[in-house]
Amino acid sequence: MKKFLSLVLAALMLLSIVSAIAEANDQKPVIWYNRQPSNSTTGELDMDALTFNGKTYYVGFDAKQGAELQGQMIVDYLQAQDPATLDRNGDGIIGYVLCIGDVGHNDSIARTRGARKALGTAIPDADQGKTEIATIDDVDSAPIGTNTDGSATHVQDGAIEIGGQSFIVRELASQEMKNGSGATWDAPTAGNAIVAWSGAFGDEIDLVVSNNDGMGMAVFNGWAKENGVPTFGYDANSDAVAAIADGYCGTISQNADVQAYLTLRTLRNALDDADIMVGIATPDAAGNVLSDDLYYYDEETRCFYALNGAVTAANYEAFLDATAPNPAFSFQLSEEDAPTKKVWLSVYNAADNFLNATYVPQLENYQAILNLDVEYVKGDGQTEGNLIDRLGNPSEYDGFAINMVKTDNAASYMAKLMQ
Ligand code: BGC
Ligand code: CA
Repeated sequence: MKKFLSLVLAALMLLSIVSAIAEANDQKPVIWYNRQPSNSTTGELDMDALTFNGKTYYVGFDAKQGAELQGQMIVDYLQAQDPATLDRNGDGIIGYVLCIGDVGHNDSIARTRGARKALGTAIPDADQGKTEIATIDDVDSAPIGTNTDGSATHVQDGAIEIGGQSFIVRELASQEMKNGSGATWDAPTAGNAIVAWSGAFGDEIDLVVSNNDGMGMAVFNGWAKENGVPTFGYDANSDAVAAIADGYCGTISQNADVQAYLTLRTLRNALDDADIMVGIATPDAAGNVLSDDLYYYDEETRCFYALNGAVTAANYEAFLDATAPNPAFSFQLSEEDAPTKKVWLSVYNAADNFLNATYVPQLENYQAILNLDVEYVKGDGQTEGNLIDRLGNPSEYDGFAINMVKTDNAASYMAKLMQ
């Protein structure tokens, strides 16, 4: 009996060693989200990061489709206005200012390009060797500083027809909204910029375009609302959608519900060794499924992309609660099918408006139904080490969802998991 017991014990020890090996941290699911592993200068995808292991994916949204939609939404709005009111100083120029989020973030770059292309102010991106503009990818996305005289080299003056009248369109100013310590997409910086811009050439500003709602709302609340200047953002955060009733002109929903679900759902499937499309393309046992007009998957690069939708005065009521779970994929999984697992999840900046006001509440909706115990670690928006150092012991977690400070930095997280 004793011998048998010690044999069993030995077998059990062996098993636990084997499973400890199988549980090596670099073999656990890793989902990159919101900041796509890529070169922040060229935009080229970081395939080492995207194929880190067989359980690695990226979840984001279609930046190009969303950017084109934002540009179109702005042009549609302008063309429906009374030109006399729109051109506030009557100089025949529709002047706009542009708030840029992060010059090294492909979402931000796409939105700058989409707005410029739609408004006719785009020029080909010489740094990329472009000589013509076929798609928004070809557009120069550099900030220009101030351009009230139309002499800037990274944009040109555009033209638009409104109510039978021709106007010049000019990007009067644009700037990356980065604060003194390096945090990007910084709303307070946008609030300061509009104070400076409006002080210097306020009556020339007929339109405000922002790469996101955080910055757009800072400009709206600080200046544009009281001056009746149309303002457009991106993200469809609840406060921005509510502001449409007070004159904020429009935003784009990147369907944070779909993205948050996909982020945790891909983790869940990878943890369960299930087909990655369960509960996504095909219904799971509980009935969760995504309709295919909400997202697509690029198998080659292992990237899931949610699609975007425009939110304007015509439809905003349906978008007022950006944190509401989607009933089509809110069915509780059973603990038997999907036992609780522990996930480490980073948010690059505790002050980022979209991630904290919209994305995290959506993650909280879905973590419960997917039986995931998620530990949220929020950074300062500038130091990657601040996040990585807080992943003290990766062995405590079954999987990881990573939102980086900088899209170039995936290797530092991978190194941590390979230790
Ligand atoms: C959002 C921004 C946000 C950024 C953070 C973007 O997709 O639109 O609002 O600041 O992600 O990485
Ligand atoms: Ca004007």
